[in-house]
Amino acid sequence: PTARFTLDPAFAVSEVDPRLFGSFVEHLGRCVYTGIYEPGHPSADADGLRTDVLELVRELGVTAIRYPGGNFVSGYKWEDGVGPQERRPRRLDPAWRSTETNQFGLAEFAGFVRKAGGEPMMALNLGTRGVAEALELLEYANHPGGTELSDRRIAHGVQDPYNIRLWCLGNEMDGPWQTGHKTAAEYGRLAAETARAMRQIDPDLELVACGSSGQSMETFAAWEATVLQECYDLVDHISLHAYYEELDGDRDSFLASAVDTESFIENVAATCDHVGARLKSKKRINLSFDEWNVWYMRSGRSPVTPPEDWAEAPRLLEDHYTVTDAVVLGSLLIALLRHADRVKVACLAQLVNVIAPILTEPGGPAWRQTTFHPFAQASRHGRGTVLDVRPDSPRHTTRQYGEVDLLHATAVRDETSGAVTVFAVNRSRNAPLPLEVTLHGLGLTGVAEHSVLADSDPDARNTFQEPERVTPHPATGTALDGGTLRATLEPMSWNMIRLT
Ligand code: AHR
Repeated sequence: PTARFTLDPAFAVSEVDPRLFGSFVEHLGRCVYTGIYEPGHPSADADGLRTDVLELVRELGVTAIRYPGGNFVSGYKWEDGVGPQERRPRRLDPAWRSTETNQFGLAEFAGFVRKAGGEPMMALNLGTRGVAEALELLEYANHPGGTELSDRRIAHGVQDPYNIRLWCLGNEMDGPWQTGHKTAAEYGRLAAETARAMRQIDPDLELVACGSSGQSMETFAAWEATVLQECYDLVDHISLHAYYEELDGDRDSFLASAVDTESFIENVAATCDHVGARLKSKKRINLSFDEWNVWYMRSGRSPVTPPEDWAEAPRLLEDHYTVTDAVVLGSLLIALLRHADRVKVACLAQLVNVIAPILTEPGGPAWRQTTFHPFAQASRHGRGTVLDVRPDSPRHTTRQYGEVDLLHATAVRDETSGAVTVFAVNRSRNAPLPLEVTLHGLGLTGVAEHSVLADSDPDARNTFQEPERVTPHPATGTALDGGTLRATLEPMSWNMIRLT
């Protein structure tokens, strides 16, 4: 059986906000130290940034970069990371049971983001800190000068304000693991107070309230409703976090993970709109899916050891991704694009070494994981307007999600050139999937490229020794004829088909 859908520019979902291709740098394991920052590395620039990593980050095409956590931020003092490096304190990081040297902080991060071609998304500590410290950081970072904190920044050698526009009001405050974890009512109040105070200084900031750490949280939906009841008029987005892994060898369910992602998005949007209706508000809250990825949760927890043993930049959460993981990640990207009308920011968690598309060795090379490829392709060609894709697809049954389509797909039209890129995943582990796409009113004449990520070994990965083991390859037989695109999607594959 063949999977089919129709594309027509009259039926569009939304423009893609470029920040949908964001990522995340946390002080966790080796994401910062020996990841993006390693003075003394042969490729390090004058600021200690690894230029080999920077090159890959630019190729990956990340936009908004969230920082400095994550769980880390809920115990973090931003002041520790500014000013002369030799005077910065060493601290215990309770979130990841590590020792933080603070050699990397705001100025280093801002330099990294600038060189990477992204924009900063700054997370505030609302776990152990509150309104006052948020205002202080805002003044230090964004005020031009003439006040104590802005002048302190200038004295630290940074004349121009960072002008950070996008701020997260804390991190995963619904999670009992979070330092300073709160109830929804407590957090809602704090988010509202913080947002109100920040807006007194700058009404145009973009603010993200913490939603749930996952759809399976016991407090899910009630959390969003309570929080938004407090801060609906004061914030722009609510956050979503989701991680997926293969459980008990159930690969079919794992390959269908995006079913959860899409329902999560739809449920959060419905909850936001419910609160909006209750408040008789015309405003719409958007979604910031600011942590998402495949994460083999049980592989990477930091061991429980006494604080005297907490290492600097230990190896934590260094998942080595397979072809299967890359296909799932591609499907998660498709889920985000399919909901581009609501998801305005999304951050692949994380960027380097820690559940990341890029791996490095200290003093050694940096290379692309399998998951690098779907992200880079989507970021490069998934800009423009998402077209409505309603597939008529053969289905199969999964343990976790019941009946699911074998085809998961979206399409994005570049409004300038008129080119359309189809992103598609075949969820079948063993059968190729014939695809037929009827094209209406798009003026497309040919297939510029059909690139596939698939492999006869579903567990193949890229390693230090073999960094190019898994890369996309061209498909054969894909054709556009008489207004119909015909292709065959390899078993368990990620596909990008560019039509011009
Ligand atoms: O990205 C890893 C961790 O996952 C983050 O620190 C936290 O926010 C989430 O639980």
